[in-house]
Amino acid sequence: MTHQNVIDKLLATYAPLPFENSCDSFKAGNPQDICTGVVTTCVLSIDVIREAVRLGCNLIIVHEPTFFTHDDDTDWLTGNTVYEEMMRMLAGHRMAVWRNHDHMHAARPDEIMVGVLEELGWTQYVQEKDYGFRTLVTLPETTLRELAQHIRDRLNLSTGRIVGNPDARVSRIALCGHIFPSWNAEERKPTQLLSSEDVDVLFPCEIIDWTVVPYVRNAAQLGMNKALIQAGHFNLEEPGMRYMAKKIAQLVPELPVHYAPAGDPYFFV
Ligand SMILES: [Fe+2]
Ligand SMILES: [Fe+2]
Repeated sequence: MTHQNVIDKLLATYAPLPFENSCDSFKAGNPQDICTGVVTTCVLSIDVIREAVRLGCNLIIVHEPTFFTHDDDTDWLTGNTVYEEMMRMLAGHRMAVWRNHDHMHAARPDEIMVGVLEELGWTQYVQEKDYGFRTLVTLPETTLRELAQHIRDRLNLSTGRIVGNPDARVSRIALCGHIFPSWNAEERKPTQLLSSEDVDVLFPCEIIDWTVVPYVRNAAQLGMNKALIQAGHFNLEEPGMRYMAKKIAQLVPELPVHYAPAGDPYFFV
């Protein structure tokens, strides 16, 4: 079985994307090479390449960009030591890298979120059946402190950034995907979401420190049960790639399939 055969089996499980110019494609390697096994991870790292070598797997399926921009354009990286060393390592082990980003997020339910909700033990609390990358869960009421500790323990976090009163009673959590500064209505959405009755806690991949965070702090300082928990982009999305390994293992039972988390890129002092 070639890398392309594995990817074709995976693609056959999805509806066609509702847009063109997807970023889901091979980023390295020859699609016609024989696949010895699959490793899934959120984002390619040198240690993940080493782990794939150790596991004897030569197809790595990532969720995030490999070469430092969303479209993985590499023209500008000629002569860049990090890029060239990564390519040398991949080529030396005849490895291929394929990105599964758009298909996972276009699926309903969103496959990254399937993994995240599973990891958090929240699948039964999700409000929508065909949820996307933004979804609401209503948990049994708890305190913000306990909620944050649960997320820390389940996602194996070194730390988390939290805004709000630790003793606030919360139950309605908005997993909001990305919150980008954009100088238009998009930027207002998280604040509008949190100001509604339906949401106590924003739980995004990343936040806008200079606009959304002050709103959450002001709401908390007014005594409202409103809060924000930030786990970090990769920490939040990585469980989706554990789910992806389980899915691929069922599609190609003849191949070894492993999940190799890239881990938190930060350390804390
Ligand atoms: Fe992402
Ligand atoms: Fe994503």
